[in-house]
Amino acid sequence: MEIIEKIDELREIVKKWRLEGKTVGLVPTMGYLHEGHKSLIVRAVAENDKVVVSDFVNPMQFGPTEDLATYPRDLDHDAKLVEDAGADLIFHPEPSEMYLDDFSSYVDMNTLTKGLCGKTRPIHFRGVCTVLAKLFNIVTPDKAYFGQKDAQQLAVVKHMVSDLNFGLEIVGCPIIREEDGLAKSSRNTYLSPEERKAGLVLSRSLKHGKEAIEAGEKDATKVIGLITDEINKEPLAKIDYVEIVTWPDLKEVSTIEGSVLCAMAVYIGKTRLIDNFIID
Ligand code: PAJ
Repeated sequence: MEIIEKIDELREIVKKWRLEGKTVGLVPTMGYLHEGHKSLIVRAVAENDKVVVSDFVNPMQFGPTEDLATYPRDLDHDAKLVEDAGADLIFHPEPSEMYLDDFSSYVDMNTLTKGLCGKTRPIHFRGVCTVLAKLFNIVTPDKAYFGQKDAQQLAVVKHMVSDLNFGLEIVGCPIIREEDGLAKSSRNTYLSPEERKAGLVLSRSLKHGKEAIEAGEKDATKVIGLITDEINKEPLAKIDYVEIVTWPDLKEVSTIEGSVLCAMAVYIGKTRLIDNFIID
């Protein structure tokens, strides 16, 4: 398993793989890898001859008041996890390698990025789409792997790949959780023990919402009400949003039918956590 920092070097390696007729999978990450990331890498290793894991805290997707400076980083730990999962290479560029001083081209989207997380994070998806467009051009993978944990990101990336004819397959993978239900996240490290307990309100309230839908509730406002009531019982929690939208078009719904995404972002103390479920 190699760690490569330079774009040209990575291109040469991929070129060699291609000459050998190998298929290539890409798992884009911001590092501080956990079992959620690992599940994507393991799937990529099973479905491709060669697998690149990008490990890059992308400054462009963080707002001015967000946690870019404190975002956790641990390359040694990441390298071990990537090697254990069977991938071939970590791409770990410096920000200056990805964004030259005169960088000025962006990939943006008018529709899917405006709601849900886009409301409180207005520049986030522009940063995500731009860095992914760069990674797709650098690695030219056959398949790229994304978690449903970031459901809006998954929908946005699929749409971008279709809009801009990137010619690769986007593979969505299920949410990996801690035993008690908390969705795994690099940001869980910010939580104090008390906040860690309070964070369970996300998965718990979603479970209630899902059960209500499964029992036949079709009124989106009622399901959202059930979920928000549950969250509001937790003193450390402050709701950013709880929404039910069509999947994968992310349009608001009043009556639940077809495929829907029920997604939330909730502050636990200062830490913003997200979680969701998709139901047919
Ligand atoms: P990051 O938050 O590191 O996540 C990398 C990938 O891991 C994403 O596709 C995310 O959905 C997936 N993931 C994270 N936690 C997961 C969990 N508990 N279960 C399953 N999958 C999980 O998302 C990003 O980085 C960045 O925005 C990126 C796409 C790399 C662009 O910079």
